[in-house]
Amino acid sequence: MATAQEATQGKSASGAPHLSQAHGIPFPKYFAALAATYNAQTGDTTRSLFAAALDDITAQVPLTSTSRVHDNAAGPGTAASVLVDRLTPDSLPNILVTDRVAAMVSAARESFAHVPSVTAAEMDSLALSGVVDSSVTHSILNFSIFAISDPLRCVREVRRTLAGGGGGVAALLTWRRFGAGEIVRAAQALVRPDLPPMAYPHPEFWQPGVLAALAVEAGFDEANVTVLEKSVVVGPGPQLDGLRGFWASDFVKPARVGWTDEEVARWPAAVEQAVQAEIDARGGVLFQAYVVLART
Ligand SMILES: C[S@@+](CC[C@H](N)C(=O)[O-])C[C@H]1O[C@@H](n2cnc3c(N)ncnc32)[C@H](O)[C@@H]1O
Repeated sequence: MATAQEATQGKSASGAPHLSQAHGIPFPKYFAALAATYNAQTGDTTRSLFAAALDDITAQVPLTSTSRVHDNAAGPGTAASVLVDRLTPDSLPNILVTDRVAAMVSAARESFAHVPSVTAAEMDSLALSGVVDSSVTHSILNFSIFAISDPLRCVREVRRTLAGGGGGVAALLTWRRFGAGEIVRAAQALVRPDLPPMAYPHPEFWQPGVLAALAVEAGFDEANVTVLEKSVVVGPGPQLDGLRGFWASDFVKPARVGWTDEEVARWPAAVEQAVQAEIDARGGVLFQAYVVLART
């Protein structure tokens, strides 16, 4: 049951309900609740999109056993898990996984317990005091910029901690199309087209060029900033079933603010109808990402 404060804060300035946020920023407690099921409920999309960008990242700064990787605002270490899968144990670099939500850090510690080169720590991306200046070769911020209260300060911290002189690269990934959110919006429109669709946090980052411009504002040279696009379609199968868990979760409860009980009861069918429409149109739910690579 949402508290009164949550109910109030779960709305954007325009009055549109947010995806469980305060002032457009997801609450830490929602991420804490999500930690155990995070990978499933994302349909592995943030992981797949990072995997799709890995060769582009290492083309900028090669990844070797002496690299130092920071997976920042990492959730359960989603991006780090791609490196652990792709590299052999003796070629794995030192990887620091950080998040400010303790449950995410615990989930990371558990999943990397068998990998000595991965360390997980609770850390605020706005003050990376546990990371040595200019020590990081690969700084990853995978689908977190829109969840962070002060994105500019965050990317300045990324810049400060990266190795200079071309020895460091920041990989900043964000949504161009958040397929899971588009299903929520389509389901809302099927039942209550008169109400505003769910709002995204920091909606500016959904626009092309905004994250790249932020990287330049944070101190990266414009000539060293590259923007790529990656996409993934989640068709019928276990990953789509994982996303169904997300659409059924409390995380999207704010999408039904102002609905009658009878309308709320129609939510699962509306979600299925929206999913089927995506499957018919493109084989599954489409997620698209901007990948901003910023070299020092
Ligand atoms: C959408 S998740 C992305 C997780 C992961 N990077 C991935 O690839 O799926 C956003 C994460 O940002 C974290 N986060 C938000 N604000 C933060 C901050 N100021 N410092 C550290 N982590 C933060 C949240 O706890 C959450 O785990």
